[in-house]
Parts: sequence; structure tokens; C-alpha cells
Amino acid sequence: MKKLIIAIDGFSACGKSTTARQVAQELNYRYIDSGAMYRAVTHYFLEHHVSITNPKEVDKALSEIRITFIINSKGETETFLNGINVEWDIRSMRISEYVSHVSALKAVRVAMVNLQRKLGKHRGVVMDGRDIGSVVFPEAELKVFLTADILVRAFRRQKELLEHDDLIDIDTIVQNLEKRDKIDSNRLESPLIKAADALSIDTTHITIDEQVDEVIRMAVTKMIPSKKEKV
Ligand code: DC
Repeated sequence: MKKLIIAIDGFSACGKSTTARQVAQELNYRYIDSGAMYRAVTHYFLEHHVSITNPKEVDKALSEIRITFIINSKGETETFLNGINVEWDIRSMRISEYVSHVSALKAVRVAMVNLQRKLGKHRGVVMDGRDIGSVVFPEAELKVFLTADILVRAFRRQKELLEHDDLIDIDTIVQNLEKRDKIDSNRLESPLIKAADALSIDTTHITIDEQVDEVIRMAVTKMIPSKKEKV
């Protein structure tokens, strides 16, 4: 069976990561969270007071950043920044408030897209983000674009934060999501857009299991080589 590249893009908090992680697990593929990379860069920039308006500082910082993914004992992928586990730190509201500004920088995108392509080189990957189907892997065999109602997204994000005892009111989360949607969709460098050949799934009224089943169903049809490919 053909090993695929599966791109899952969409707005923040539509269930991209949860879906991508489970699809990867079921197919025995590698899961890559590209948002975690931009979050890790943002974490570094904040910790080291890197000015995003100073290209030299940005380039220097990027040359010092090493992002890796390590699978923990539960089989979950965790993000490491220069050897330190930042998986939970990068999910904070402080990072969420700033990440869209950092991820809009061309130098940051070039560095992260290079890394994403390297990680996907051997195929058999599920990668989620904003520009995976449109820019990182335009040749991906399966492209999925997730959407959901803003309030549903905000409640999902609130629940995720609460699991780590971080109680944030729903209005603050809605405002953050709306702001990020706006910046992510309107930036000059690879804005969030649905690739022309991506399949949309509205996740407002469906469960994660249903989302996962739908993506797996689509993936299976792409794994079987077409008659043309067999010849
Ligand atoms: O998926 P996420 O919410 O963890 O992503 C965090 C931010 O990173 C998001 O606001 C936009 C940016 N991002 C991006 O620009 N391109 C990607 N491929 C993934 C994320």
C-alpha cells in the first residue's frame, strides 16, 4: 500500500491536532504538529527577548533554535526546544497571544517549512497546520480542511486548558481565536487558505471519533494505487 502524506489544515481549535494524532496512530504514521513548531519558536523569542522587528536578531535566534519531537511512554509526541520538553509551556495563553505575530515572519516560515519538509521526507506522515496542503506539501495525496463554529472551538480550547488547571474565561478565548484567525488568514506569507483540492469537514456537530473515521475512510481510498499508477 502506498504511504501517504496527509495534510490537515484549518482554523485554531477545530480539532486538527486531536484528529491528526489519532489518524496517525491508526495508520501507524508519524504525527507532526506544525503549530507546535511556531509555538516553540515563539517561546524562545519571548524567553530571549528577541525583537520581531529586528531581522538580524530573528535570524540569530533561528540559528540557535533546535526543535525535535520525541514520543513519550504513552505513545504521545512531545515537543522539545533545544533539548527541553516544552510541550505544555507552549500551550499557554501567553504564547497563544503572540504566536500569530511570530509565525507571520518570512524568516520564521522559511525555517519551519524546511524542517517540516525534512520530517515528511519519508512519507507516512500526518501533519496539521495552516499551510500544509497549500505550501508545505502541495503534492500531499490527502488534504483535509477543518472548520467549526467559533463558540464550539472556544469551549473545546477552554476544556483543554482546564485539563491543566488553567481556567480562562470563554470571552478571552473567543477574542484570541478571532484575532488569530484574522492574522493567520490575512498575513502576506502563506496565509491560511483552503487548498483547491482539499476536502472540507465541518466539525461543529460531530465527535472526534467521527472526524477520525471520516479522514481514515478518505485515506484508505488514496492508498490503493489507481489503474493508471499500476501500469
Ligand atoms: O495549531 P496551533 O493553534 O497550535 O498554531 C499556533 C499558531 O501557529 C497559529 O496561530 C498560526 C501558526 N501556524 C502557522 O502559521 N502555520 C502552521 N502550519 C501552523 C501554525
